[in-house]
Amino acid sequence: MFHAVITGTGRSVPRKIVTNADLEKIVDTSDEWITTRTGIKQRHIAEPDEYLSKFATEAGKQAIEASGISPKKIGLLICATVTPDMPIPAAACFVQTNLGMTKAQAFDMSAGCSGFIYALSVADAYIQSGKVDHALVIGGEVLSKFVDWTDRTTCILFADGAGAVVLSATRADHGVLGVICKSDGQQADVICMPGGGSRNPPNLQETMEQRLPFIRMKGNETFKIAVRSLAEVSEEVLKEQGFTPHDVDLFIPHQANTRIIEAVGQRLGVQEGRTYVNIQRYGNTSAASIPIALDECVREGRVKRGDLVLMAAFGAGLTWASALIRW
Ligand code: ACO
Repeated sequence: MFHAVITGTGRSVPRKIVTNADLEKIVDTSDEWITTRTGIKQRHIAEPDEYLSKFATEAGKQAIEASGISPKKIGLLICATVTPDMPIPAAACFVQTNLGMTKAQAFDMSAGCSGFIYALSVADAYIQSGKVDHALVIGGEVLSKFVDWTDRTTCILFADGAGAVVLSATRADHGVLGVICKSDGQQADVICMPGGGSRNPPNLQETMEQRLPFIRMKGNETFKIAVRSLAEVSEEVLKEQGFTPHDVDLFIPHQANTRIIEAVGQRLGVQEGRTYVNIQRYGNTSAASIPIALDECVREGRVKRGDLVLMAAFGAGLTWASALIRW
């Protein structure tokens, strides 16, 4: 039986930074409101000529370089995103070509903010079964192009970027220990973008008139469900693998809101100072938030061999997921 071990990480975000003060100029909001309600101080936003595969390619390139593995030896490339370059083909195919991963099967995965952990679970299964030796998993978004910049309840939250990991097969006892993914389609309307798909095609005038191809979110409802599900799915993966929250060396939750992160940390009982938070600098980058945070932790030396790393995410679908890794 093989385990999947993370052999390289990477991240890429747009150069352009938008601060809360910049947002004060376009919607009725304030730095004070955004900071106290969300923890966000600034976010990276793509220029008009920048799109997902640019950031996904750069993050993937860094992860491959860090792993030391030839791109031609990687058999699987999954790009978790809800904001690909275009509906057809998958963004992963552009990344595959950009990185010269000629032997990889490449596809996108849509699971909202939980997308990275969902993609990790698929790559883990491919590696465990011996189907591939190496996989590149990317979480990336350019949400700014699907945000309604007149809606102050969402435009202050979402942002752009990509993070990536290379997973490789090992027979050693470290690597991905367990992954749990859950969904509840009955709550699909809590976070959605009603236009742009086959129900409300983008080429119909009514779709744009009704402002359907923009992200809509019932923030308050999302908040309550997020705290409960993140804590429950984290407890479940820990219990399944024979650990308690006290054993966790590093907890990387999806960066949606500092109040959600604090509430989950308290409910779980993760030890003080072991939860990683970078939302103040990036905002909510959906599927990119966990791999961006992980890459920061790796490059800053916050995670060392033998550490128990817990990740948990929550997002559109609804979906929620957790992963436990022995580093
Ligand atoms: N500036 C100033 N005031 C605002 C703003 C703003 N940007 N946005 C909303 N308000 C106002 C509201 O109109 C409301 O005013 P009222 O009381 O006069 O009606 C008041 O502030 C409070 O609004 P709430 O929605 O109750 O604020 P809340 O404290 O719930 O914070 C937030 C809103 C930040 C969206 C929060 O609910 C949240 O973070 N939810 C979770 C989001 C999340 O986790 N998403 C993850 C998945 S996303 C994905 O999958 C793509």
